Amino acid sequence: MKSQYMHPPTFNTMTSRDITSILRVLVAQQQLLLLSLLLLAVIPSVAGYSTLSDDFLKLVPSGDADYDIHNGRLLAPLLIPRVAGTSGQEAAQRHFVDYFAQELPEWKVEWYNSTSTTPVTGNRELPFANLVLKREPPWVREGQSNLLTLVAHYDSKITPDGFIGATDSAVPCAILMHVARTLDPYLTQMYEEMTALGEGGGSVEEDMGVQILLLDGEEAFLSWTSTDSLYGSRALAEEWENTPHPVMSGYRNPLGQISMFVLLDLLGSADPRVLSWFQTTHWAYQALAQIEERMRALGLLETNPKKPFLPDADKQQFGDSHYVQDDHVPFMARGVPILHVIPTPFPAVWHKIEDDGEHLDMPTVRDWARIVTAFALEWLDMMEVEPKSQEGSSSSR
Ligand SMILES: *[C@@H]1O[C@H](CO)[C@@H](O)[C@H](O)[C@H]1NC(C)=O
Ligand SMILES: [Zn+2]
Repeated sequence: MKSQYMHPPTFNTMTSRDITSILRVLVAQQQLLLLSLLLLAVIPSVAGYSTLSDDFLKLVPSGDADYDIHNGRLLAPLLIPRVAGTSGQEAAQRHFVDYFAQELPEWKVEWYNSTSTTPVTGNRELPFANLVLKREPPWVREGQSNLLTLVAHYDSKITPDGFIGATDSAVPCAILMHVARTLDPYLTQMYEEMTALGEGGGSVEEDMGVQILLLDGEEAFLSWTSTDSLYGSRALAEEWENTPHPVMSGYRNPLGQISMFVLLDLLGSADPRVLSWFQTTHWAYQALAQIEERMRALGLLETNPKKPFLPDADKQQFGDSHYVQDDHVPFMARGVPILHVIPTPFPAVWHKIEDDGEHLDMPTVRDWARIVTAFALEWLDMMEVEPKSQEGSSSSR
């Protein structure tokens, strides 16, 4: 199957700006023969990003029993209140750290901590701690890699008392843990093969990695304002903006390394409708929607909704500029490209005590896990290390 959209890191050694300026010079010199020769030379190197094959899609696991709400490895430990400054916050943090330490030791773990007062907790400075889990090619220098950035918030809302926030957003966190472990062996293989081939990086395509941001303090404590909300993401975006990489790095600062900021929120209720919010990243939305469409056609998804989860692939007009306030806002304000995977209308349980494990729709949870995992595999160009077909390869984890 042919790719219907273009991944941004497409040119091997020249950026499109390089090429544009070269073309401009050539046109000015009227060297049209040379121009066409140059185009011929450039076009073949534009390839390199390919959609996952049907066989590869069939291998994408859902995570399955790991989302069991009572004893599932990934989700159950998160189905507790997780408010900053409480033991639930610490338990969630330990869950993430232990999991990556045990299962994904190649992933670099970084904390980005801050403190803030809130309108309901008096003069006490609450601790907010963002966790960043990153896997990059082994050869990159600081500021060289471009990073698919998968994001969810792990804090829960302080009210109503006992609120768990299963869709908001324990499930997105659990899905991202699953995505990480699914990507991991493919990343290992790809980096090893590239190293063996002497492909030491230096191009956008070769220097791809992935990071997962588990953000704290998304929820407002009293009511949503620009200062009472997004405690974690505001602190992180600001810190990254003010942490320049060394001169001559590929990217100015860690914000520049974010090839796409994919934010998952409010996932886990049945019949979600996730719209395309931003014209500049609509192509990435289309890639995600195409994965859903292909997986449905192949019978790989469990749900059977009247409308797809991602119904907006053909959207043409991006006239009205409204969007949902969420953790992407401080990053978007600094020019980071955003894909916001959030259903509207919000789930019926939104910010209610019913947003708990019992009210999740598990086939929807597993289908989101499959779709997002496949998207990440495709983004990271894992057809390069597609497993060669084995007997009985239809198992799902
Ligand atoms: C940041 O917070 C986490 C979680 O509380 C903690 O484990 C870590 O040590 C803190 N890091 C720093 C540098 O304070
Ligand atoms: Zn919320």
